[in-house]
Amino acid sequence: MLIQDVFSTYKDDLQQVEKCINDNVNSEIKLIPEIAHHLIDSGGKRFRPLLLLICSRLCGYQGESRFPMATVMEFIHTATLLHDDVIDQASIRRGKASANQIFGNSVSILVGDFLCFKAFTLMSGIGNNDIFGLVSTMGNIMSEGEVFQLTKCGDVNMTQDEYLSIIEKKTAVLISASCAAGAILGKAPKEKVEALSRFGMNAGMAFQITDDVLDYTAKGKDFGKSIGKDLEEGKITLPLIFSIKQSTEEEKDKIKEIITHKKGSQKAAREILRLIKKYKAIDYSLQAAAGYVSEAKSQLSIFSNCTEKDHLNAVADYILSRNV
Ligand code: IPE
Ligand code: IPE
Ligand code: MG
Ligand code: MG
Repeated sequence: MLIQDVFSTYKDDLQQVEKCINDNVNSEIKLIPEIAHHLIDSGGKRFRPLLLLICSRLCGYQGESRFPMATVMEFIHTATLLHDDVIDQASIRRGKASANQIFGNSVSILVGDFLCFKAFTLMSGIGNNDIFGLVSTMGNIMSEGEVFQLTKCGDVNMTQDEYLSIIEKKTAVLISASCAAGAILGKAPKEKVEALSRFGMNAGMAFQITDDVLDYTAKGKDFGKSIGKDLEEGKITLPLIFSIKQSTEEEKDKIKEIITHKKGSQKAAREILRLIKKYKAIDYSLQAAAGYVSEAKSQLSIFSNCTEKDHLNAVADYILSRNV
């Protein structure tokens, strides 16, 4: 099954989510909907809402709360993008000029905060304490991940374990919570909630690894973001960590020199790319992602075979083949 088939199966549900998103970005302070719409209307895969909808259906829930719940996850995701683009000094997001670029840093941060709090308002309407606890803890962990990442910026001694811990916190917990929240809405037993939580965690790890690979390999037009941005910002991700580990002392010194002195020239970038190629670091990273995808799929064994399980397997496979 292809990812497009999964998205089209949930087309009506996703339309309801879109309506809920649009209904909840209003404010008398017109700059808020303007900025929120700038980002929301420019696309985005709605990957987290999709997972929530699949998991709630898998656990037998087809009630109305799944729409605000999916909106909660997309709002928190959108808020992190607004904040992330300020931190990363990004200029392109979803194929368009990023909000920080057009409206400035301060208001991008504040609208991110607005969306986060709106997410909590929506959750209080859903009135499920377990979900409230899950999402609150998730938000704390995501912030920890971002701060941890900041402290490691430009650190060529960063280990693979530290990298994995950062991506678990900044990305995987949100994808995990999207899956778990769907299961909680369906009043699934604890073992099933936990299995879907682990499915999402592993899928989320793979998702960020492929994002980090695409930062090196993607075509800008498809990806909708600048390529080579991580290296430019001194953000050290798996392809580079692996290359540094394999490098000779001389190569290590060269990489250190490039990263620490932010020698963002084309020549410097080409040198790093040469080492990434030499040590087959893209293959290594994609293999790591494949390991997480297979671990994600194995968590689904607790569910008997059904269409929704096929959907989750297709989503997991898509992570490895995506170019956007
Ligand atoms: C981008 O997420 C941020 C990461 C966690 C890598 P997505 O790739 O889901 O972004 P959109 O929502 O589709 O733009
Ligand atoms: C994604 O990290 C983390 C977020 C929580 C937004 P990136 O910095 O790699 O995300 P993109 O590539 O800008 O979307
Ligand atoms: Mg970024
Ligand atoms: Mg990225």
